[in-house]
Amino acid sequence: MSEEQETLEVSLGARSYPIHIGHGLLERAGELLRPQFAGRRLFVVTDEHVVAAGHADRLEHGLAAADFTFARIVLPPGEATKSFIWLERLLDELLLAGAERRSVVVALGGGVIGDLAGFAAAILLRGVAYVQLPTTLLAQVDSAIGGKTGIDTRHGKNLVGAFHQPRMVLVDTATLATLPMRERRAGYAEIVKYGCIVDADFLAWLEGQGRAVVEGEPAPCRRAIRRALEIKAEVVAEDEFETSGRRALLNFGHTFAHAFEACAGYGEGLLHGEAVAMGMVCATELSAALGYAPSAQTERLVRHLRQAGLPVRPRDLGLRFEVDALLAAMRHDKKVVDGRLRFVLWRGPGQAFIASDVPEDLVRRLLTDALA
Ligand code: NAD
Ligand code: GLY
Repeated sequence: MSEEQETLEVSLGARSYPIHIGHGLLERAGELLRPQFAGRRLFVVTDEHVVAAGHADRLEHGLAAADFTFARIVLPPGEATKSFIWLERLLDELLLAGAERRSVVVALGGGVIGDLAGFAAAILLRGVAYVQLPTTLLAQVDSAIGGKTGIDTRHGKNLVGAFHQPRMVLVDTATLATLPMRERRAGYAEIVKYGCIVDADFLAWLEGQGRAVVEGEPAPCRRAIRRALEIKAEVVAEDEFETSGRRALLNFGHTFAHAFEACAGYGEGLLHGEAVAMGMVCATELSAALGYAPSAQTERLVRHLRQAGLPVRPRDLGLRFEVDALLAAMRHDKKVVDGRLRFVLWRGPGQAFIASDVPEDLVRRLLTDALA
């Protein structure tokens, strides 16, 4: 991978922030954080797998070299950590360790750590600064950018949270070397999502390069991450609080995905990115059933996802769901407006839009087929 560092910006006026992308940025984090945060105490929030992979040590080495004082808080890995219980424990540990208004939370990990630590930063002492140091492909292309923070509840995913933008995002592509293949594939699903919603050329390029991206070949991997980040940064800058409909497009496949995750119980049996892969297939099927897009485009997407080693149906992972339970989970989704389900659909690659007039019996039929 090129050693060169690139920088993109999320343009949000006074709350704009840079996304630095490069190989080995954790070692350089101290140097990159110093201009903004010199003299302030850092709290590195991470999880056990990230620590075991050596990334917390690499980061702290860089922080110490830049004269930062810091403390480390290690949480258990997995979606179950994005919960009220762990939020409370994290806040408690931060306060116990002496966090104050000028403290900076450093989220080092995947989307779980980023979402939880970001939410803790949003509410600790009515809001402290935080930075995102994503270590999974999924977090590097999606969750670390845009300021959506939060936790899951028994009613569904991400139902309690806050918009709280990080001050900086450091995407160190070297961290991907220790990421298990299943997690890489899950992250790849979110990359495919960007092509589906707004960039048909990118999607076509991914069809040829997807396997190389998943396998971590430096040049294609870097290009895919950069393009995904450009799209995410642009969409967030246009619609930070998801009010115009533009940012909602990033939820392509997610109404289905969140229902699959809720019914799977947020365990290791189904990763978020895997749920997104299956959800995108359902979204394109729904689009075809409503006459918006040819079903040949669904078949093309299915081939692409399968080639990347992603599941396209719950049965691919040995999962069994009840249609009624999935529909009930969908009714708790944040995209429900005035009690009506909303879906992000497409007219074909790169042409996503929001539909709120989808008949529930059609969704029921589609889910019944998807579960057969
Ligand atoms: P994750 O945070 O659970 O990380 C996946 C696994 O990889 C974990 O076991 C973790 O310990 C391990 N890991 C992390 N980095 C590693 C590394 N470099 N080497 C080895 N192991 C490593 O999951 P994720 O897929 O990163 O994120 C999923 C979460 O992100 C979900 O909760 C989802 O809702 C959320 N999300 C949020 C947004 C947003 O905008 N805030 C967007 C997309 C997804
Ligand atoms: N991942 C969806 C969003 O950031 O809006």
